[in-house]
Amino acid sequence: MCGIVGYIGKRDAQSILVEGLKKLEYRGYDSAGIAMYTEAGLQVKKAKGRLAVLESHLDGAPLVGTVGIGHTRWATHGKPSDENSHPHTDMTMKFSVVHNGIIENYTDLKEELIASGVTFVSETDTEVISHLVAREYDGDIVRAVQKAITHLRGAYALGVLTEFEPDRLVAVRNASPLIIGIGEGEHFIGSDIPAILEHTRNVFILNDGEMAVLTKDTVELMTIEGNFISREMIHVDWDAVTAEKAGFDHFMLKEIYEQPKAYRDTMRGRVDSDLTVSLPELKLSPAELANIRKVHIVACGTAYHAGLVGKTVIETSARIPVEVEVASEYRYRCPLITPETLVIVVSQSGETADTLAALREAKANGAHVLAITNVVGSSVAREADSVMLTMAGPEIAVASTKAYSSQLIAFFLLGMYLAQTLSTQETAWVRGIVAAMLALPEQVEQILDNTDALREYAESIAVHEHLFFIGRGVDYAVAQEGSLKLKEISYIHSEAYAAGELKHGTLALIEDGIPVIALATQNALLEKTVSNIKEVKARGGVIFGISDVNEATALGKAVDEVYAIPATHPLLTPALSVVPLQMISYYASLARGNDVDKPRNLAKSVTVE
Ligand code: F6R
Repeated sequence: MCGIVGYIGKRDAQSILVEGLKKLEYRGYDSAGIAMYTEAGLQVKKAKGRLAVLESHLDGAPLVGTVGIGHTRWATHGKPSDENSHPHTDMTMKFSVVHNGIIENYTDLKEELIASGVTFVSETDTEVISHLVAREYDGDIVRAVQKAITHLRGAYALGVLTEFEPDRLVAVRNASPLIIGIGEGEHFIGSDIPAILEHTRNVFILNDGEMAVLTKDTVELMTIEGNFISREMIHVDWDAVTAEKAGFDHFMLKEIYEQPKAYRDTMRGRVDSDLTVSLPELKLSPAELANIRKVHIVACGTAYHAGLVGKTVIETSARIPVEVEVASEYRYRCPLITPETLVIVVSQSGETADTLAALREAKANGAHVLAITNVVGSSVAREADSVMLTMAGPEIAVASTKAYSSQLIAFFLLGMYLAQTLSTQETAWVRGIVAAMLALPEQVEQILDNTDALREYAESIAVHEHLFFIGRGVDYAVAQEGSLKLKEISYIHSEAYAAGELKHGTLALIEDGIPVIALATQNALLEKTVSNIKEVKARGGVIFGISDVNEATALGKAVDEVYAIPATHPLLTPALSVVPLQMISYYASLARGNDVDKPRNLAKSVTVE
């Protein structure tokens, strides 16, 4: 989950590296560093803290050259510190390495290197790589890297430079993402597209077990064994400003407001004029679909919460049993996967290590794997049998918003497609829901035009340390996402409970003045939810209720304050009800003076298990 950028060409490398790292700060931001080939040889500057700290060091003493590598770190081995920052070097300072991933056998390698006389200066796993490359070097950096990595076990994307060959930059990928950017008389490496988008839109995506050797004029792609390969160049259509804040105070806010567009884009081309759904990307014939006996949805964090909604959607529409599980648990409990199981992995980044491992487990057991992901060319997208892309565009804020809600849209589309193909629901039922889906973007806009009450409420809870969310059915699923969002960025402790479950223990925690957010969008369950709300109210809870406009008056009688969302089909309410929860989290985080886009201890893309 660190960020890597590299440059070899004819322009000032320092500014290209620093600008690239700025675009990658969401991948990790506890320290940053660059290594450049300069007149004085290989020089490294690195510093603990945000990139701005490194920039202030460089302001006084810039590095001058046209070749370099840079890194922004999210600590895994060794605390955030100057020493543990990348790039790492060997003892002679002639070799420099940036790394994203984890070297699982680094302790053994470190002991072996220490026994042979090597002195380590950091606590990182990465430093072993620079010493190994130096040890293997016999005049050819490519060969040295190839030999060095035969000792490594784990995940790594690497950028390697040596002072002995200042006209070459070596990049390697194994289980951590890496792309190669193609310019004219210049080339780039990046752990993610935004790092280099300003300079080129033409990229090669490396696969696991592949490497690239860059000079300013050439790029050679090969396997790590040294067999040359050819690869189709991908042209990236992303607009550079898409990755900027576009006038919003924070990426998170911008991304919340981008949800209507994300919904439209995700439905675009998949909903026909007769309100049927086309999903050509699902590589299962109707006969194969009819053979599916169960569905597993596997994901982490927010994507897992989207899966919880997906379960209700698929069970209701396709009448197939669905299990939802966090990816870090799935693989280790010998899940019952058969060729009749459809495994759906959900991942915004497509690089989450746990999700990828679950995908591989599912494939190894013969299941068809459908990935719902936001990133073209991501590991998950490349390894799955079918890929349904959410069209949310790049999500920069660590807290996921538009990616989550686009995943909901993907599940709605999938559910309706299954109902249609398997004839498990009436055509009119499917069409009614598809019509309601098409109205969602505008309904989100209505919510976003009406946020004052949400801001006021968020400011009122910002002084609290504990809060509860309650809801039934899909409201409970959304409550879990609302609770995660609040914890993640406001650092207020919260718990999400199935409304009917509170009285089985948790009610003991409700005391005078404790804020409770009650989701009551399921009109058929309103009376039951209201009973649970009254249990909370009787113990002193202060309740902020969310329902649709049709039930707002009824709910208003039971709660302290009510917020109404537009009315939609009960299955689709999560795509609306999550929006006020996102706004409440955003404003609570702001009121507490937190860094909304980069909450403490979290990283955007979690590529370690
Ligand atoms: C929370 C959040 C995380 C991610 C989780 C999975 O806002 O963003 O919980 O949802 O780390 O990430 P992806 O979806 O990239 O697999």
